[in-house]
Amino acid sequence: MVTTASIDLESEILRLKEERNAIILAHNYQVGPIQDLADYVGDSLGLSYKARETDAEVIAFCGVHFMAETAKIINPDKTVILPDKDAGCSLEQACPGPELAKYLKEHADKNYYVIAYINCSAEVKALSDLICTSGNAVKLVESVPEDRNILFVPDQNLGAWVMEQTGRKMDLWQGACYVHVEFTRDSIHGIKEEHPDAVVVAHPECTYSVRMLADEVCSTEKMVDFCRDTPAKNIIVVTESGMLHRLRKEAPDKNLIAGPTDKCHCADCRYMKLNTMEKLHDCLLHLQPEVTLPEDVRKRAEEPILRMLELSK
Ligand code: 13P
Ligand code: SF4
Repeated sequence: MVTTASIDLESEILRLKEERNAIILAHNYQVGPIQDLADYVGDSLGLSYKARETDAEVIAFCGVHFMAETAKIINPDKTVILPDKDAGCSLEQACPGPELAKYLKEHADKNYYVIAYINCSAEVKALSDLICTSGNAVKLVESVPEDRNILFVPDQNLGAWVMEQTGRKMDLWQGACYVHVEFTRDSIHGIKEEHPDAVVVAHPECTYSVRMLADEVCSTEKMVDFCRDTPAKNIIVVTESGMLHRLRKEAPDKNLIAGPTDKCHCADCRYMKLNTMEKLHDCLLHLQPEVTLPEDVRKRAEEPILRMLELSK
């Protein structure tokens, strides 16, 4: 429901944005009102490019912490703020920097080429050779010389999917997204039985048994193209619930059905959903919480991100 209070909050956010010379970047999983007023809405790859290109002095990043941190790594002179500093990610938590450093030391004989999914901390990025997103992981893994041992961190499901796509063997860190592993073979079978003519699009963070039921597996941004282009009218979308808002705007003629989990009719990321319009307003007003990083870590983390941006052009 649109109330006078929500209109006022929206116009106040837009006023502050002008005053601060800020850009508002939002991930596809953000709540509808944030997506609707953002300057750009997209996946991790698109958001990284936008953060790289912008002339704005302030980046208000409506997503999770590692995304805002990535924007800061490639924009050290800009002020990067995010509405809620506790917007973390279970994948980031699954691979602490010191544990990865220890593992690399213990397996020094492997001389690993480390590819880190962007859903990780700056410390992990600083230990990596290349960063990837779900949108470019296949292409980037294919760019690594055949004679190198690849360690892929932190998502075992994305890593396994990339191995299936490329035929390339990699050692996988055993992390997972707590949201995408909630979709199960039974929950997706169930919704397919209700909509027998529907096609299924799933994120590669889903498990193997769910990916096997999908007609397409891709990043959130590629889901937009898939939903627009498929001749199918009914589409089951197996990812975080915020995606449905974006897809309903981009493919209004399609019947978009949220993929259910065993427990719920759709899946919310509790971290993504920490961001609200009120917190976005407050962070633009106070320029807090701000993302800051030790310069040595930032510099080392920047290299593999820039390599990614160059290679995935
Ligand atoms: P995308 O880059 O595909 O948007 O994925 C980010 C993410 O966190 C998925 O859970
Ligand atoms: Fe992390 Fe999963 Fe949330 Fe994406 S959906 S931000 S991978 S916890």
